[in-house]
Amino acid sequence: MNKILTFAMLTCFYLTMVSCSKKQAAELKPDDGPPDPPAEEITYANFAQALFQNKCNACHAPGGTASGMWTFNGHASVVANSNRIRQAVLVNKTMPKTGSLSAAELTSLQTWFDNGLPQ
Ligand code: HEC
Repeated sequence: MNKILTFAMLTCFYLTMVSCSKKQAAELKPDDGPPDPPAEEITYANFAQALFQNKCNACHAPGGTASGMWTFNGHASVVANSNRIRQAVLVNKTMPKTGSLSAAELTSLQTWFDNGLPQ
């Protein structure tokens, strides 16, 4: 009998702790869309593609005003120009020409480059 009671109490305690910590985590997270993927999981598919599309495509899409400098046309077009892109976005920070990348986007992009531009 005692064992069952102890077990029940521990279970109650555990559930209380779990629900508390879950609630706190939800409250702490700012509501700005899906969470950034963990650093080791940053890929072209889950991060970089959307970034290039949203922040670069306006000028660097095929036929765009700056397509002569670099044409964004999928993963291969980034890999083939990765040194120039890294230089322009992460080192000199001259790109994107208009607008800017958030600190989180810069960190994720840096990680993506460091990991070897995984698809
Ligand atoms: C508003 C238009 C615009 C946007 C948005 C833009 N660019 Fe550019 N980009 C340019 C222009 C114009 C040039 C030519 C150089 C200059 O005028 O600074 C250029 C040049 C470049 C170059 C060549 C740099 C060199 O000297 O080799 C790269 C690489 C580049 N952009 C990457 C990007 C990336 C990556 C993004 C998104 C994060 C981006 N650009 C967003 C307009 C843009």
